Amino acid sequence: MKSLKTNRALLLVNIGQLLTVSAEGSGPRRGTALLELGIIEDGAVLCVGGKIVSVGKTKDAFRDPWVRKNRTEFEEIDCAGKVVLPGFVDSHTHPVFVSPRLVDFEKRIAGATYEQIAAAGGGIRLSVDGVRKAGKTQLAEKVLTALQGISSYGTTTVEAKSGYGLSLDAELKSLEAIRAAAGKWAGTVVPTLLGAHVVPQEFQDQPQKYVALVCERMIPQAAERKLAEFVDVFCDSGAFIEEDSVKIFESARRNGLQVRAHISQLTRTPLKRLLTFDPASLDHLDHLDDDDISLLAGSNTVASLVPGANYFLGLREYPPARKLIDAGVAVALATDYNPGSSPTASMPFVLSLACTQMKMSPAEAVSAATINGAWALRLQERKGSIEPGKDADLAVFEVEDYREIAYWVAADHCAYTVLNGQLQQNSQTK
Ligand code: NIG
Ligand code: FE
Repeated sequence: MKSLKTNRALLLVNIGQLLTVSAEGSGPRRGTALLELGIIEDGAVLCVGGKIVSVGKTKDAFRDPWVRKNRTEFEEIDCAGKVVLPGFVDSHTHPVFVSPRLVDFEKRIAGATYEQIAAAGGGIRLSVDGVRKAGKTQLAEKVLTALQGISSYGTTTVEAKSGYGLSLDAELKSLEAIRAAAGKWAGTVVPTLLGAHVVPQEFQDQPQKYVALVCERMIPQAAERKLAEFVDVFCDSGAFIEEDSVKIFESARRNGLQVRAHISQLTRTPLKRLLTFDPASLDHLDHLDDDDISLLAGSNTVASLVPGANYFLGLREYPPARKLIDAGVAVALATDYNPGSSPTASMPFVLSLACTQMKMSPAEAVSAATINGAWALRLQERKGSIEPGKDADLAVFEVEDYREIAYWVAADHCAYTVLNGQLQQNSQTK
């Protein structure tokens, strides 16, 4: 992958299908609105100073007097009939870890479940040692490598969680590593404190003391040092109960941070109580009942589905995307990039899973991975669609029809990613 660093204006022309994903209406996309991709054929996009300034037909771009006068100054990309869409917004990743968890991988193949592996000392806790021992620079390099991999598949905005440190120092160090890596990457990073991922070994017999540490020290310090925008909690069996999650959300609120949660991945927790905190997103949602679905449908909380985890854990069941969409819930898609349950950087693979396993249409999957991902991070004013005034975040795919992005399994067709106006050329041999 090559980063073509330039401050020059960028003009993309001869776009076969330009998916603007722009639409009237307020709030995240629901129901049939997910199908509206605002496609312009033979399109063009002009980006100046990291922002999109015009969107339309190629012939109109070439007729524009300002473009005619300044064209020699532009970086011009002839898209030769390819597809351009908003850069993916990956609203759920865990990039701060040192090593893959290969023993867990083998145990699972041999038949152990996620919960059995965790109970035997594997799972999330297995990643903790590495993070605690690593220096900030080493962690930042790991995060940067992850961000570069993620953007090579067309993603331009990434939510990045801590969560494998599980001590005050190691969680803050993880957030500092995210900040350092974000400073070296052209895309946009949204940092999240996930101190409440699981209870670490040393607090095993006194979990309430750990919850107090998260609420009284981690959250206030992360907020004070502006190291996180969101607070997340893993509310599930083997992790934190609803009551703990409420305490964590209350602390986030007191400290001016927004909230999101991993919930109902392994077992159901009723969503009612946590929804009163107006979370930007609730994630996983494998186990829901009809009450949960109607409460979600009546809220502005996005349901972020991460089918990469179901795939990698070898589950037969996937989150009920069809039921959610048909009930009017705003659905987003994300990778859940992490070493335990979803080691993939590829949003196109997630779109493929969404279509084949959750029966979302390719159009629904594109909206869920762009504009609704932006809503899941409360970045909808800047991200998720190709409209004048928004950040210049684009993905150029070497295909003729956008449906091919989800159709070609485990393929890698993203030729260019534009991150805040900066052009990155993705090599064909990643
Ligand atoms: O989103 N569910 C909790 N956290 C991660 C898994 C993390 C891990 O296993 O390392 C998830 O799937
Ligand atoms: Fe996760």
